[in-house]
Amino acid sequence: MDSPVLNQLFRQLFRHPACQSLRRPPSSLSRQTRTFLTRRTPTKRKSQGDGMLWSKRGDYPKNIDEEYWSYPTVTAKELRNRRERPRQVKMLTREFIDDSLYNPHYGYFSKHATIFSPGEPFDFNSIEDGPAFHRLLGQRYTEFEDLLDEKKPDIARQLWHTPTELFRPYYGETIARYLVSNYKLTLYPYHDLIIYEMGAGNGTMMLNILDFIRDTDYEVYQRTKYKIIEISPALADLQTKNLLDTLNSKGHRDRVEIINRSIFDWDTYVHSPCFFLALEVFDNFGHDTVRFNTRTELPQQGGVLIDADGEFHEYFNTQLDPVAARFLRVRQAASRRPFPSPLGPWYLRGIRSAPPFRKEFSLPEYIPTRLMQFFDVLNQYFPAHRLVASDFSSLPDAVPGLNAPVVQTRYQRRTVPVTTPFVHQGYFDIFFPTDFNVIEDVYRAVTGKLTQVMSHEDFVDRWAYVEDTETRNGENPLLTWYKNASMLMTV
Ligand SMILES: C[S@@+](CC[C@H](N)C(=O)[O-])C[C@H]1O[C@@H](n2cnc3c(N)ncnc32)[C@H](O)[C@@H]1O
Repeated sequence: MDSPVLNQLFRQLFRHPACQSLRRPPSSLSRQTRTFLTRRTPTKRKSQGDGMLWSKRGDYPKNIDEEYWSYPTVTAKELRNRRERPRQVKMLTREFIDDSLYNPHYGYFSKHATIFSPGEPFDFNSIEDGPAFHRLLGQRYTEFEDLLDEKKPDIARQLWHTPTELFRPYYGETIARYLVSNYKLTLYPYHDLIIYEMGAGNGTMMLNILDFIRDTDYEVYQRTKYKIIEISPALADLQTKNLLDTLNSKGHRDRVEIINRSIFDWDTYVHSPCFFLALEVFDNFGHDTVRFNTRTELPQQGGVLIDADGEFHEYFNTQLDPVAARFLRVRQAASRRPFPSPLGPWYLRGIRSAPPFRKEFSLPEYIPTRLMQFFDVLNQYFPAHRLVASDFSSLPDAVPGLNAPVVQTRYQRRTVPVTTPFVHQGYFDIFFPTDFNVIEDVYRAVTGKLTQVMSHEDFVDRWAYVEDTETRNGENPLLTWYKNASMLMTV
């Protein structure tokens, strides 16, 4: 814990019972909790000349007009070298989220974030059924954390799992089969197999893919290069450590490069054809908030003001910044089908905007502005890439709003969801669902490439050896878990 404020914060979080965890520690492990620490209370709004509107919190009814005009607007990049969480500043929502997740000193990914590793792979064929797998996973989770606590206790450790880890090496092999088949179909023998992986967690996908290629197609292996682009110094170190850990993994050393950098700082032109993996990375990309005037349907952009006491005040402004404005324009121009709006379907808008239903503004919509900027990076620096991305297509128990994130922390091994992203920076995972229909169109518009979207289940069904992950009664967790995930691939 880095301050007494946090003890107080967590005490408040645990005063209230209830609610399911998400980036899913097995439910048997995640105790059910709900908090009201950062209630979004009914707000009073005050309008300014240039259209600034702010939301007062009912439990902290302070007028922030003066602060709004005097505080500077800062970005996550400008805060990178700061060790203390900022005060007396304003930030756009995406900047606040980026700072909260990625600030090197206090960001979520810099300190407590740990990705579960089961150690030995699960022997699915000897496990009775799905519930038995769930129980076994629960045990391994506890053992994993007990071991970490022996070395360094951390009551605020954030621990989550991904399919890469739960289904190692089979999930990695599934992706590898897709990569090698497509490589052989279109690039071999004229080009090497170059794989970039953005956000590689523990580095497990890299090891599983390289093992598979070496063991199944040595000729291709000799032409394979694997490059990780990882924002977190701690995870980049762990990836290196895991690469050098065993004789087997060390064998891949000459094929691997681990680049500790955010993809948004990328500045090297890669002309060679390459595959670009992004597995569960989009969900943590910063989003902007917009809400709409229900009468005029004009958008306003959201941000947060942090006052001298470190309290958060959400505000909205009728002037959109260029990035949010561009996203709305690109989406409008590129969409091949209607996309959801927080104003609701057009045929209900007349009723909704009439008394007594009328609300002045819609709920906020979270728009994936950083994801659009990631597509810009692909387009500008990786013109011959082929994207293979996987992420959540929907998430239960998100904060209010359209395309809204789940915001949760973990304290003493209990998962605590909250109801707003504007919470103590660095202690909360903030992760978003991805609307694959929308982002497929935006990706196409930005890169000019063709794509395919399919459910995670369909992808796995097509490329995995599903027998590997079948339990004795014929259930298959690799197919049935992660039902709310999809894949986007360049074709
Ligand atoms: C949820 S983890 C997923 C890890 C891994 N892909 C897996 O499926 O096990 C997200 C990963 O993306 C990394 N990441 C997030 N934003 C990034 C960025 N802008 N540039 C590079 N890596 C990033 C995080 O540090 C972390 O390694």
